[in-house]
Amino acid sequence: MAAAPILVTGGSGQLASALGEAAGARPLLVVGRPRFDFDQPEAIPALLRELAPSLIVNAAAYTAVDKAETDAEAAARANRDGPALLADCCARAGIPLVHVSTDYVFDGMKGAPYVETDTTNPTSVYGTTKLAGEQAVLAACPRALVLRTSWVYAARGRNFVLTMLRLGAERDTLRVVADQVGCPTSAADLAAAILGITDRIGNGGWRDQYGGIFHAAGTGATSWHGLATAIFEAAARHGMKRPRLEAITTAQYPTAARRPPDSRLDCGKLARVFDLQLPPWQGSLERVVDEVDRAKNELRTSSNVA
Ligand SMILES: NC(=O)c1ccc[n+]([C@@H]2O[C@H](COP(=O)([O-])OP(=O)(O)OC[C@H]3O[C@@H](n4cnc5c(N)ncnc54)[C@H](OP(=O)(O)O)[C@@H]3O)[C@@H](O)[C@H]2O)c1
Repeated sequence: MAAAPILVTGGSGQLASALGEAAGARPLLVVGRPRFDFDQPEAIPALLRELAPSLIVNAAAYTAVDKAETDAEAAARANRDGPALLADCCARAGIPLVHVSTDYVFDGMKGAPYVETDTTNPTSVYGTTKLAGEQAVLAACPRALVLRTSWVYAARGRNFVLTMLRLGAERDTLRVVADQVGCPTSAADLAAAILGITDRIGNGGWRDQYGGIFHAAGTGATSWHGLATAIFEAAARHGMKRPRLEAITTAQYPTAARRPPDSRLDCGKLARVFDLQLPPWQGSLERVVDEVDRAKNELRTSSNVA
């Protein structure tokens, strides 16, 4: 009989894709819309009964931080109600749920990296709905592990790295916010850590110490401006154009959602309980920029052939 799969939600998203790519021989199944849709919650329990997973990783979320300010109901469906339903299904099936959350549950005023027990105080609709999701998941499912991460990027999807590379190719100067600090996290590194967790649960069974909140982000921290500088340093090594970067303040770059000025995450608990630490963000960023460049070259080669 085939082993029960690890089910990953979030379809074509950055993290779900990275989990699919890193799975190797593990029986991992990624589901996305329209088959798995938090806007069609009535279909979810039957789908889960059909797939009968051994564990669920919820990487699906409403992640458009600014759009959420005017689309609060959809954000709440995907970030609060959907995870609550998943947690309820997991509790009924007696299986663990790894639910991914965000640094934006904090207001960023602590002035030091946040630990899991620090007081939350989201400043945006996105952060508020994600916090409500965490709380719902932990209340409904005795085997729930909430993994907060931050500033996620990959060679595909919607993220800061790709946005910078696109804008950098079009403009000579980019103005980038320098007074928001956080921990950039490669989706591939986060996926590897999640698989480390699911391997541990799969091999040794669930333990009480696995339940609750964990922080999991790239090691080290920087500002958006610092991240942009590193992106273009890596890109320049591939001959990509290097625009001038102007450091600006949050006030000079108004957005619909308010973001925390300093949302660095302390990931010590993940190291203590699971012996897992994500690599320093700089090396991971270089690997992602390399991958972007490779994909660009492959595209160029294949269009030459065609
Ligand atoms: N991106 C970041 O910077 C960041 C920072 C901190 C925390 N996080 C958290 O990390 C997790 C993974 O994020 P990510 O970066 O991989 O996000 P992402 O690339 O935006 O992927 C999220 C995926 O969720 C799915 N989705 C969206 N709305 C849905 C709905 N109503 N029902 C079902 N699926 C829906 C979509 O997949 P399909 O359309 O293919 O179904 C989407 O691709 C999320 O929990 C996010 O909150 C992300």
